[in-house]
Amino acid sequence: LRYPTLKVLVNALGTPPADILAECHAKGILVGALAGKVKHALAHKAGGVDFVIAQGHEAGGHTGEVTTMVLVPEVVDAVAPLPVLAAGGIAGGRQIAAAMALGAQGVWCGSVWLTTEEAETHPVVKQKFLHATSSDTVRSRSRTGKPARQLRTAWTDEWDDPSTPQPLGMPLQPILVNNALARIDRAAHRPGSGAEQLTNYFVGQIVGNMNETKSAAQVVYDMIDEFIEAVQKLGHQLND
Ligand SMILES: Cc1cc2nc3c(=O)[nH]c(=O)nc-3n(C[C@H](O)[C@H](O)[C@H](O)COP(=O)(O)O)c2cc1C
Repeated sequence: LRYPTLKVLVNALGTPPADILAECHAKGILVGALAGKVKHALAHKAGGVDFVIAQGHEAGGHTGEVTTMVLVPEVVDAVAPLPVLAAGGIAGGRQIAAAMALGAQGVWCGSVWLTTEEAETHPVVKQKFLHATSSDTVRSRSRTGKPARQLRTAWTDEWDDPSTPQPLGMPLQPILVNNALARIDRAAHRPGSGAEQLTNYFVGQIVGNMNETKSAAQVVYDMIDEFIEAVQKLGHQLND
């Protein structure tokens, strides 16, 4: 690990290996890991992580069966006093307030960045994201071999067709499809190629709320404003 500015390292699929954890800790780097169920969170705690990210079913990318609303308090209780970040379906201040109410110390967002000005999202996919609803995603093994939430397009529909062979496991499925996905993305730049119908990417159900392009900084400012408003409203409810 030769990145002098690295402050945090997070493991997605599994508990970070002990040697990596030891190296990070020796260099003052905090280590976290994503959990889709309590079992994962307990394994991460036993493995020595500094914090756990409880990531619910609605999240973009590899995701489990339990929703954020149910998972976060479960994980908070299971790994206490270890800090927990909530992930999955969070793109605004109301969702941050909800996550804090569930016991999280903070939040971890993925999808919301994909329609920002800075995002490197394929332009055709970005437009699809901006017009998608929260029902337009699907968990599919078609890209990586493991269930990963992504935009539903002709690509996922074809893989879901009962007459299509099942995707292979990880890591064979990416080896099988990565060239095809890259070719689809290149062709999708040409209107009328047909590839626009296939092209897709990982994204969570929160895509339904991602309806305009803003800078990443503006996304954060808007989150903060909405968070303050949400907490104030809750405070008023207590007074009433
Ligand atoms: C495009 C995309 C790629 C992702 N890749 C990874 C990854 O490589 N490693 C990882 O730990 N999580 C990955 N995730 C999951 C995020 O870290 C995060 O937990 C998730 O996006 C949170 O849910 P949200 O999409 O509803 O914000 C990815 C998510 C997206 C949308």
